[in-house]
Amino acid sequence: MGPVTLPVLISLMLCLAQGSPQLRRANDRQGQCTYTFTVPSPKEGTCSEPGEAMTAIRELQRENVAAKQETDALKIRLSILEKVVNRLLGGDTSGQSMSSPQSSTGTHVELQKLKLEKDEWESQRGSLEMAYSDLLREKSSLEEEKQRLTERLEQVQQRQCPQVVETPRSRDQPSSPRQAPSATGGHGGATRTSSVHGKGGPSELSRWGADGVGYQELKSELTALPASRMLPESHSASQVSEDMGTTGCGELTWIGEPTTHRKADNIAGKYGVWMKDPEPQSPFTLETIWRINTVGADIRQVFEYEKLDQLIKGYPTKVYVVPRSMESNGAVVYKGSLYYIRKKSRIIVKYDFGTETVAIQKELVDAGYHGKFPYSWGGYTDIDLAVDEMGLWVIYSTENTKGSIVISQLDPKTLEVKQSWNTTIRKHSVANAFMVCGTLYTVGSYSSPTTTVNFAFDTRTGVQKQMSVPFQNLYGYASMIDYNPTEKKIYGWDNYNMVTYDVRLSKM
Ligand SMILES: *[C@@H]1O[C@H](CO)[C@@H](O)[C@H](O)[C@H]1NC(C)=O
Repeated sequence: MGPVTLPVLISLMLCLAQGSPQLRRANDRQGQCTYTFTVPSPKEGTCSEPGEAMTAIRELQRENVAAKQETDALKIRLSILEKVVNRLLGGDTSGQSMSSPQSSTGTHVELQKLKLEKDEWESQRGSLEMAYSDLLREKSSLEEEKQRLTERLEQVQQRQCPQVVETPRSRDQPSSPRQAPSATGGHGGATRTSSVHGKGGPSELSRWGADGVGYQELKSELTALPASRMLPESHSASQVSEDMGTTGCGELTWIGEPTTHRKADNIAGKYGVWMKDPEPQSPFTLETIWRINTVGADIRQVFEYEKLDQLIKGYPTKVYVVPRSMESNGAVVYKGSLYYIRKKSRIIVKYDFGTETVAIQKELVDAGYHGKFPYSWGGYTDIDLAVDEMGLWVIYSTENTKGSIVISQLDPKTLEVKQSWNTTIRKHSVANAFMVCGTLYTVGSYSSPTTTVNFAFDTRTGVQKQMSVPFQNLYGYASMIDYNPTEKKIYGWDNYNMVTYDVRLSKM
C-alpha cells in the first residue's frame, strides 16, 4: 500500500473540491506510488482584497499631495525671500520697487512671519539649554553642599556634643566667631534653616542622605546660603549709600562709555533685563543683582545674584519663577519687588521676592500692548517700567494719543496711576526711554554706535525739548536701557552683553 491511505485521500479530495487542486501521480525510487497535491496556500487566502489595497494607495497619494503642497508653500516663501534679498542687494532700482507696492507689504508681512517663527524656535531651544545648564549647576552645587554638611556633621558627632544647634544667621551678618570651628573655616556651616538638633548617633547622618527629605532640606539650605558667603565680604555697599545722600537731582548732561560686565551664554540672553534694586529690602542689598533673559515664549525665570562677582562667574543665588509669563523687557526691581508686564496684556504685576508671591496686579487702562506701540526695535516693548529718584513710572502709549509716549507715575503699593503726562514723542520713533529725576529721556537708535539721547520731557514743568547727549550702543542691539537712581548709572542690555554707563547730572 502507498504512503497515502484511501480515507485520507478521499477527505483531502473533498476538502479541496472548492479550490483548484492539482493531483499528480508518480513512482518513487522504491517503486511505490506517490500522490502529490497542489492546493492554494492559507497565506494566499489572507491577502488583502483589491478594495483595501486601493484605500492604502489613495492614502499614500493624499500624503504625497500634502507633502507637495508643503513643499510648494516653502518654495513660494523662498522665492519671496529671494526677491527681498535681491531688492536689498540691488538697491533702489526704482522701476521695480515702484511696480508693486502691494506685494512689497505682503513680502514684509511674510518676512516678519518667518522671522517670528525663527525667533520662536531659537528661543525655545535657548530656554531649554539655559534651564538644563542651570539644573546641572544647581546639582553640582548641591552635591558640594551635601559633602560639606556631611563632613561637618561627622566632626560634630566626633566631638560628641550633647546638643548641636547651628547659629541662625541672617544674610547680612558676618560669620559669628562663636560658631563651631570646622575644616571649612566656619563660613560654610551656618545657615538660617539648619535644624540639626543633636540627639546624637548615626541617625543624624541619614537626615542628609539621598532620600527625598534630605534633598529638600539641602535645597533650602542652598537658597539660604549663597556661594558668595565663602568669599570675603566686600564693604562697598555702605560707601555707595553714603555718597547717594549728597548727590542731588539734575538734568542729564553726559553719558559715559559703556562698561561690559558679562556676556550671556546663549540665544536666550540675546535680549534681557538686569539691574540692582535702588531701594532694596532685607535680606537683599544694594549689591544684589537681578537678571531676566527675555528671549523665549515663556519668560518666567528671574535670577538673583549675591553681587556682580557672582553674575560674572555665573553663579546665581536663587532662581525665582513667576507664576505667569512676562512680556519683553519692561520689568524693574524696586523695594524688594519685581514689577513686570504680563504676557500679551496691559496688566502690571507686582511680584514680591520676599514671599515669592504676586502681591498685586492691575490693568494699565488704555495702554497699547503686544506690538501696538513698541519702541523702534519692536520686541513687544509696548509698556516699559522705570524707576528714578521720584519713584515708579510706566512709559507707554494709547490709541487716544495716537502712538505718542504717555508717562504715568504709579503708586508702588497699589499700582494706581497717580498722574499722567502726554508727550508728543512718537514711541515707535525712539529706541528706548528711561526716567531721571522725574524727566523722561529717549534714545534715538538701538543699533547705531553713535546715537544720542534726543528728547527730554520734564514732568514737573510739562516742558518737552530736543537735546543731543551722545549715547553709545557698543554691540549694536540695545534691548534695555534703564536708570538706577541710587548708583546714578544707566544699566543696559546690548546684544547679549550686560553693560553700565556712568552719567552726569547738572546742578539744579
Ligand atoms: C492725553 O491725551 C488724550 C487724547 O487727547 C486725552 O484724552 C488725555 O486726557 C490726555 N491726558 C493728559 C494727562 O493730558
